[in-house]
Amino acid sequence: MCGIVGYIGKRDAFPILVEGLSALEYRGYDSAGVALVNNSGLSVFKDKGKVDHLKEITSDIENATGTKIGIAHTRWATHGAPSYANAHPHLDVNKRIALVHNGIIENYSILKEKLKKEGIEFLSETDSEVLAQLVGKYYDGDLSSAVRRALLEVEGTFGVAVIAFDNPGVIIGARRGSPLVVGVGDDEMLLASDASAIVQHTKKVIYLKDNNLIELKHGFFNTTTLDNRKINPEIHSLDWDANALAKDGFEHFMLKEIFEQPDTIRNAMRGRLLVDDGTARLDGLNLVLQELRAINRLIFVACGTSWHAALVGEYLIEELVGIPVEVEYASEFRYRNPIIDAHTLVFVISQSGETADTLAALREASRKGATVLGICNVVGSSIARETHGGVYLHAGPEIGVASTKAFTSQLTILSLLTLLLGRMRRISHSDGVTIARALEAVPKQVKKILKQNERIREIAGIYAKHNNFLYLGRSYNFPVALEGALKLKEISYVHAEGYPAAEMKHGPIALIDKDMPSVVLALKDSVYDKVLSNIQEVNARGGSVIAIANEGDREIEKYARHVIHIPKTLPLLSPLLSVIPLQLLAYHIAALRDCEIDQPRNLAKSVTVE
Ligand code: AGP
Ligand code: GLU
Repeated sequence: MCGIVGYIGKRDAFPILVEGLSALEYRGYDSAGVALVNNSGLSVFKDKGKVDHLKEITSDIENATGTKIGIAHTRWATHGAPSYANAHPHLDVNKRIALVHNGIIENYSILKEKLKKEGIEFLSETDSEVLAQLVGKYYDGDLSSAVRRALLEVEGTFGVAVIAFDNPGVIIGARRGSPLVVGVGDDEMLLASDASAIVQHTKKVIYLKDNNLIELKHGFFNTTTLDNRKINPEIHSLDWDANALAKDGFEHFMLKEIFEQPDTIRNAMRGRLLVDDGTARLDGLNLVLQELRAINRLIFVACGTSWHAALVGEYLIEELVGIPVEVEYASEFRYRNPIIDAHTLVFVISQSGETADTLAALREASRKGATVLGICNVVGSSIARETHGGVYLHAGPEIGVASTKAFTSQLTILSLLTLLLGRMRRISHSDGVTIARALEAVPKQVKKILKQNERIREIAGIYAKHNNFLYLGRSYNFPVALEGALKLKEISYVHAEGYPAAEMKHGPIALIDKDMPSVVLALKDSVYDKVLSNIQEVNARGGSVIAIANEGDREIEKYARHVIHIPKTLPLLSPLLSVIPLQLLAYHIAALRDCEIDQPRNLAKSVTVE
């Protein structure tokens, strides 16, 4: 999920690798490391912390210089907290190969057990070390065959770069699901997870495709598929705009992260959604089935966007699992005297895992004897460390202050939790399979919505000058209305309020006039007709409506001034889709108002103060 750099050529590799890592720093990471091939074999320098720290610890080390080949990595932990041992590169047990890896090896625990039985000792908790050990096991002087063989055994996603102790003439790169770009220079070759680490050396690049493997040698390369068929890749020419490259060509991280959601949602379910059984496995909860069955109440505690995700969780679990759920603002929970007993499970939800209020609430709940679990994105964060167990989002670093991809990943995890708990109680096998299939289809549906970006930008253009907005939704889409309003407030500094659609008539309706547009979530579910009535109430007072409706719904066009159509899914999964146009709408309104989108005024990415 983070950064890879590789170099083979005529120049000193170390400074090029370290500068390459610096160019990737914008992605957010927790550890950095380099491996080089020199006369005495492999040298590895690594630690948790920043690239500057890596520079410090290597400043007076002689064998860091003078070698012409090496690989480097910035890690964004998914398996095992940030630490020296978990930092990449990883070596095999005989220190014959060094490997860096981005992504997730899904079947790592099975492979690890097998390798342990063969007497291989592991030094880290990472999934990546399993791959290093496998490559080491198969290495007999032919590095590409060893990598190929190892990769055929793994499930999951990878971008890898590998070097061997006795071969200063080759780097192997391969990918599936994690990006890798190859730079073709003058008598030198580079490899990186994105082109910003390459652009200062060459503009000629090859974008490696999924299931491709590349052998980089001094001055030339050889590309094949993982099953060893020859490929002649196209060489592209890069535009010299390192800043745009850092954002993959998007103008802001927020937009990039909105567009990442088909992948991040898929990553959240990877290895966890069991479609045939209509359920999910969430091993990180560290609870046995009996304990899960004994639970009769849940409390979700969170702040901001994570709190909105929790609210969707409440609707999901009460309806499908049939146990009572409370959703609490962490800042309130910590000073109340919450009722917790042995059968209450507390979930704290936090992208960053560092939010002070959520952390304090976690401690309060633990003090009262509750089992506290976490739903976090940042591995090894304070919340991840202090909870009894939990589930990681695996969404990759979220840089934009306004949370987008973390929200949809949280919703995905909450849907998985619903399946897991529900199948132990009220959800039948066939209903479970229906939900699991619908969930599996979500990433593609999100992709389809993203294609409407241009049209949403046009709608944003019509409303960009308005200073007040109402967001209305009911049932599962009430929390989405809150989230849509929060996104607009945060990045465009426009006043926006989210309301349950029917609650509007109990107050906010007084505000409606031609200058106050309403964004209404009007999906075909059990409350559709009622939402149509709410839209008419807005129209009757001269307000205009932007509706989010299902594909094929023509009726709605009679009532709403603008309609953004989204694909149909089960009502319980609809927030995963309906929030996407609202993220884009907020983004474009903020962009048209010339706001600082990635770092909005007065806000911090993680709020570590009370
Ligand atoms: C989201 O766009 C906000 N920046 C904010 O509400 C955020 O969700 C909240 O501070 C909680 O953060 P956390 O998920 O990292 O705990
Ligand atoms: N899954 C690997 C780990 O936790 C790689 C993470 C990354 O992509 O940086 O070490």
